Amino acid sequence: KLCQKADLQAQRLFASSAVSSSAKEVKRAVLDDTSEHKKSFCAIQEERRERALRSVLISCPPKFNEKKFLDYISKHGDITNHFFYQSYGTNAVVEFTSRDSIAALKRSCTIPSVQHEAAVPFKSRLLSLKGNVSQSSSLNTVRCCEHSPIPVSELLQKLSRQESVDEQLRCLTEAYQLSEEDISLRFLVCSLLGDIAAAYFPECIIRPFGSTVNSFGKLGCDLDMFLDLDGVSGQKQSKGSGLSIEYQMKSVTSDRTVTQSILSVIGECVDKFGPGCVGVQKILSARCPLVRFAHQPSGFQCDLTANNRVAIKSSELLFVYGRLDERVRHVVFAVRCWARVHSITSSIPGAWITNFSLTVLVLFFFQRRVPAILPTLDQLRDLAGPSDKCIIEGNDCTIVSDLSKIKLEKNTDTLEKLLQEFFEFYGNFAFNRNSINIRRGKEQNKPEAAPLHIQNPFETSLNISKNVNATQLERFVALCRESAWLFQEGEVIKRGALQSGDLIPPWGLAALLLPSVAESAGVKGRRKKKREPASARIRTLLESL
Ligand code: GTP
Ligand code: MG
Repeated sequence: KLCQKADLQAQRLFASSAVSSSAKEVKRAVLDDTSEHKKSFCAIQEERRERALRSVLISCPPKFNEKKFLDYISKHGDITNHFFYQSYGTNAVVEFTSRDSIAALKRSCTIPSVQHEAAVPFKSRLLSLKGNVSQSSSLNTVRCCEHSPIPVSELLQKLSRQESVDEQLRCLTEAYQLSEEDISLRFLVCSLLGDIAAAYFPECIIRPFGSTVNSFGKLGCDLDMFLDLDGVSGQKQSKGSGLSIEYQMKSVTSDRTVTQSILSVIGECVDKFGPGCVGVQKILSARCPLVRFAHQPSGFQCDLTANNRVAIKSSELLFVYGRLDERVRHVVFAVRCWARVHSITSSIPGAWITNFSLTVLVLFFFQRRVPAILPTLDQLRDLAGPSDKCIIEGNDCTIVSDLSKIKLEKNTDTLEKLLQEFFEFYGNFAFNRNSINIRRGKEQNKPEAAPLHIQNPFETSLNISKNVNATQLERFVALCRESAWLFQEGEVIKRGALQSGDLIPPWGLAALLLPSVAESAGVKGRRKKKREPASARIRTLLESL
């Protein structure tokens, strides 16, 4: 309905407007002004969590009769929403209007009996479809929503077909961002995990954080979850009854020990009783203890942590910045993609720059524009109301939740200009002396000797890029310089003519995503390579595609 309304308004606006902005842009502007856009981060998360509680996940055969399937399921209650996706076969997410329908549906299900396999008596919301609906005469293949990103080669062609660098950045975000369905599935997986953790902590909530909720998530990214026990320990606050609960009095040496033992038992539970949870690893000695596993029915790689409230606040902060100006998300998606194809970031933990650090680098760059595109974190704190007050482990994590209070300066930089100047900014940044500080929106003297220092926004004495070594920082700077240089050369950034077979040579953002010549020649050989004429360089780039 929201989209239809926006479409209608966009059409009207477009019809009556003499300016040459595209209908798409008008639609976006109208959408930005809707009440949906004004909802706070917490309200959005709560709504999604509640919808997940009313949902089930059903593994389906490759072909079945969709209508019969829905007719059968809806016998147990009204369906609000449903969609299909592919992960080890076809799967359906069905959201009922009421939670009671799930109990009715479960009652109609049978428990499978397989030879040599004993059943664990745990009735999950993960079901499997066999029988009538898959034996109909009119079987069909259902339409599945996007669940994994398109391959880079396809992305390069898609980008090259766009008319401008600005359109390329928008197209990249569109191709990579998490769909509504994918986010719903992520909340459902958290909810399913919550059913398991409830065996120990009936009032616990498992909440997603990181790129699932911070608006910078790419299809296929990991699912970061945290076990929220505040609803349980909140009972500490009640006064006057004279009773205290014995289990809270267990003496342990630190909060970390508690977190480790909670995650240890939950990890055990997920391993033994979690349907579809495989490869469970307990990584309890990490700085932030976690349980890592693959959730096969959804295809997500999951990281479950506990006692990690600061991380969820960081996710909210990123979300807020992403909402303030649409250019933030486009540049972050472009920079994250650029970093991934050039192996600046990696899915393996190590000395690489992380996506989180890269995002903070983009935010800082946006704060440093003249006029500034983004406010500083201190400004976001100063605008906060009394209900926004948030102190976590002694750290002030307060940020304004009502975004209408934030007055932005007028900055009309194009996405192309921003991306180019991002590369110039970090290609020349004095990383040896300065620390990135989004709280103040200004570089500060480095308080420690780490090659890259990015102040943790909420735990200000910490460096979020402590893991990055000098080599990785050098690679980042070298690639920034190379990309800035490609922009300055101009030729690569211009759209070429259509070639036979509907192919357009990679240009603009697509050209920046091609393998780097400096990298393949080794950083030392970069100077020599740079002196090559532009035409030779473009040829090399095209050949490497
Ligand atoms: P992906 O690479 O797409 O998974 O991005 P992500 O933002 O989800 O990053 P990641 O999974 O590495 O971390 C999840 C969340 O944990 C981040 O969004 C941050 O909120 C938080 N986080 C990650 N690394 C750090 C760190 O070094 N310090 C702090 N304070 N928080 C971190
Ligand atoms: Mg993540």
